[in-house]
Amino acid sequence: TRVYISRDMASVALGADAVAHAFEQVGCDVIRTGSRGLFSIEPLVEVETDEGRIGYGPVGTGSVATVLDGTHPGRLGKVEDLPFFASQQRFTFARCGITDPLSLTDYAARGGWKGLEAARAQTPQAVVDTVKASGLRGRGGAGFPTGIKWQTVLDAPASTKFIVCNADEGDSGTFADRMLMEGDPFCLIEGMAIAAHAVGAGHGYIYIRSEYPFACQTMRAAIDASAHLVAPFKLEVREGAGAYVCGEETALLDSIEGKRGQVRAKPPLPALQGLFGQPTVINNVLSLAAVPFILAKGADAYAAVGFGRSRGTMPVQLAGNVKHGGLYEIGFGITLGELVNGIGGGTASGCPVRAVQVGGPLGAYFPPSMFHLPFDYEAFAQAGGLIGHAGITVFDDSVDMAHMARFAMEFCAAESCGKCTPCRIGSTRGVEIIDRIIGTRDSLRSVRAEPVAERAVERFLDSALYSRSPDRIDVSIEAQTSLLRDLADTMKYGSLCALGGFTPYPVLSALDHFPEDFGAAAPAKEAAE
Ligand code: NAI
Ligand code: SF4
Repeated sequence: TRVYISRDMASVALGADAVAHAFEQVGCDVIRTGSRGLFSIEPLVEVETDEGRIGYGPVGTGSVATVLDGTHPGRLGKVEDLPFFASQQRFTFARCGITDPLSLTDYAARGGWKGLEAARAQTPQAVVDTVKASGLRGRGGAGFPTGIKWQTVLDAPASTKFIVCNADEGDSGTFADRMLMEGDPFCLIEGMAIAAHAVGAGHGYIYIRSEYPFACQTMRAAIDASAHLVAPFKLEVREGAGAYVCGEETALLDSIEGKRGQVRAKPPLPALQGLFGQPTVINNVLSLAAVPFILAKGADAYAAVGFGRSRGTMPVQLAGNVKHGGLYEIGFGITLGELVNGIGGGTASGCPVRAVQVGGPLGAYFPPSMFHLPFDYEAFAQAGGLIGHAGITVFDDSVDMAHMARFAMEFCAAESCGKCTPCRIGSTRGVEIIDRIIGTRDSLRSVRAEPVAERAVERFLDSALYSRSPDRIDVSIEAQTSLLRDLADTMKYGSLCALGGFTPYPVLSALDHFPEDFGAAAPAKEAAE
């Protein structure tokens, strides 16, 4: 009997290796695949039958017999028919979870290399035009049009150009880059080879965070296996060393060059003076992995899906306190609420959803009252947030949003490269201010819990004597909140890169949407409930 079991890091963490071993022990032909992307059914075992691949999950090592005789209670039927998968539009992740990631035969049999063949039959300019027409925008988070970036590199006069893939996926709650690299590495290689043809580059680097050892191994093996197919283009993997800021493109380039990863001032853009001073395409894994589909199926097929100026699909990652966490690739335009409550099934704890953070640690927090927002770069920007790398982290009603705001500042202080003052020093001052707010809030909460006669303390805390005396720090919540907003403004407009510049998003969104957690009176709507 042939069975398929994922070797993705998340599946392995859930016990997939032991399960695979158990099936091998009874003589099954076990094919290790990437993950389909729904973690609540992992370890997933798919058994090949006359009707197709029948899934069972989650499966333990003691369940081999019941899976093989079809009586296991976790029988799921055909996995692609489950609503979580049937409702997706898998352009980029079409093969992930289905094929053996390192089988060139599997890759070719399922449409692999068609995009590269099509690209190589065209002029570089025609390839760039196709990518422009597809409407593809940078999936790392900034949403800059990929075709325009490639045009800049194509037009740059230089004999040496590079393709760099940013696989330093550092955002909390994101794992799409990792899943793609572990589950369908040839797709990324094909996308990079197409980019190389389009701009005239001979060498490419994939910069992978060291926390992704499986992705590094798989990519290295896939590069070796496909070297003859992408030649003369050459590829190599570079491992990061754990700094979040090395996901910022210029710090990443410094890191590949062997320097300490520090952000460079722009201009010059990497497209003109990037790696070793040469014109460089630097794109996220998902941007590059979207390109084979676009070249194979045509720009129109990609652009036909989407919303407004956000064309194509986005591999959304559902994480945190969510019932059905995983990867969900869908055209832009689906609402935040559909993703969190419909697809994700609400919280894993069963308590009400209170907040979701979209776009990693630098993304804004949204309350359920904003769940009507369509997944779209512009709509999120207008609502004071960002899509980023499309990681959604769900929190239930036990979350303390003041603590989450503090975490954002603390994270920035820990990860700052130190080059500019608003980020390096502002983030530490931010932690201190939020600590004062939390301290005052907690004192107020405890005195409010006391009998009325003892409320004198509250009056004292709020009093002019305590808070406005010139030789004391003004600890009143209003004063500290206004200081925090000023600081956020300075960081937003005065920082050199997104780390310092975007930290205000989680802080201000927490403050705006959840003022009661910062000691303010509950908003009128909630107070009335
Ligand atoms: P950016 O807006 O400065 O640049 C976007 C990209 O377009 C860059 O590659 C830039 O070099 C390029 N570009 C801009 N103008 C160009 C032109 N005229 N010609 C050619 N190329 C041009 O944004 P940045 O700082 O690169 O990225 C910020 C984003 O990173 C944020 O939106 C955030 O969501 C995301 N981010 C993603 C993380 C992840 O783990 N994927 C982690 C942290 C942040
Ligand atoms: Fe470095 Fe922070 Fe300035 Fe970015 S904002 S360049 S991480 S100090």
